[in-house]
Amino acid sequence: MDKTVCELFAGVGGFRVGLEAADANWDTVWANQWEPSRRRQDAFDCYCAHFGKKDIYVNEDIGTVDKASIPDHTLLVGGFPCQDYSVARTGAKGIEGKKGVLWWQIRGVLIAKHPPFVLLENVDRLLKSPGKQRGRDFGIILASFWALGYSVEWRVVNAADYGFVQRRRRTFIFAYRNDTVYGRYMHGASADRVIHQDGFFAQVFPIAPCGALHQGELGTQDLLAISDAFGFAFDTAGYMTDGMLFTAKAEPDYHGPHVLLRDIMDHGVDEKYYLDDTSLEKFKYLKGAKHIERTARNGHKYTFSEGPIAYPDPVDRPARTMLTSEGTTNRSTHVVRDLDTGRYRLLTPNETNKIQGFPEHWTDTGMTDRFQYFCMGNALVVGCITRMGRLLAEIVEQE
Ligand SMILES: C[S@@+](CC[C@H](N)C(=O)[O-])C[C@H]1O[C@@H](n2cnc3c(N)ncnc32)[C@H](O)[C@@H]1O
Repeated sequence: MDKTVCELFAGVGGFRVGLEAADANWDTVWANQWEPSRRRQDAFDCYCAHFGKKDIYVNEDIGTVDKASIPDHTLLVGGFPCQDYSVARTGAKGIEGKKGVLWWQIRGVLIAKHPPFVLLENVDRLLKSPGKQRGRDFGIILASFWALGYSVEWRVVNAADYGFVQRRRRTFIFAYRNDTVYGRYMHGASADRVIHQDGFFAQVFPIAPCGALHQGELGTQDLLAISDAFGFAFDTAGYMTDGMLFTAKAEPDYHGPHVLLRDIMDHGVDEKYYLDDTSLEKFKYLKGAKHIERTARNGHKYTFSEGPIAYPDPVDRPARTMLTSEGTTNRSTHVVRDLDTGRYRLLTPNETNKIQGFPEHWTDTGMTDRFQYFCMGNALVVGCITRMGRLLAEIVEQE
């Protein structure tokens, strides 16, 4: 088996940068990135600025791509949003998911190409969505994999728990075809060993023993039935094989070094990133505690409350989660005290590149600062992928 990769929702290439840092033989044979309803395609342009402009990098809505035209690949990767994955019966056509929901595009690639290995990234709340039927959406993903002959491991990883410079919690999903050497080997292991010791995430992101596993089952591969009635309390570590579910709360077991915000901060920062008095006042208010009387549409009066968040952001800790709104006048934007001048300022785009673990100035490919922040809010902690990419390379070499 060769180390070929198909990168969906490629953004500025976080999976690719991470995999190539793990093993130079990872070879991206097809990538897709399209920013809906924008004329400018800055993320795709950034991707091509680094990896070349080639026909195999496609800047189209994945929904319009004929999945059979995608080349064969060993590893399918992609970071996709948490959306409503429910399905409805549509008469003759069978079942149908909601339009624009990207999970169905990933499933389309699985059906057309059947890649042996799949690595996906999503937000942590995926496991609990939707609020009124907890676990339904993730159940749909797992049932889809089961029906196509895969087993799945998942893990919520806070990158800072493994030494990285950002507190970013994301759900990673590793799926493998049951007919691979790896799949057959894992099939012989107990669920307890998979989650604690032998499994993919146990190897890459070690955890402390977490007691008895919580068990359940999907019960059916029928997505409509799952959509209508399935619920399960998925925890932060887990495993699905043959429709059986095993889950536990993961307690990270990491004793290596930790990178802090100050370690990656720029020096000699341009004056434009410093905050004037008006902005300082705005940030002070936005980040402060609030109790605000509000009136709902139905006339009901209520008090909106939120606690304070650190202002400025401490530089002797990892950064908070970067959102796509980073850099705007927003409660979640980081404000730091500059290491040289002691004055308050925003992070530079280059610092946000480093917080995600990209090479310096990665997004400095002709887009505005605003869009550089946006791309970094969308991206992932590259170092997490590098850790996974090393083990993935070993797994593929055994096939
Ligand atoms: C969560 S981000 C993934 C970012 C990527 N992992 C990175 O490192 O930059 C999802 C990406 O999917 C893209 N996207 C959204 N809808 C899409 C569609 N219909 N077709 C193709 N790409 C889409 C977005 O523009 C965004 O860059």
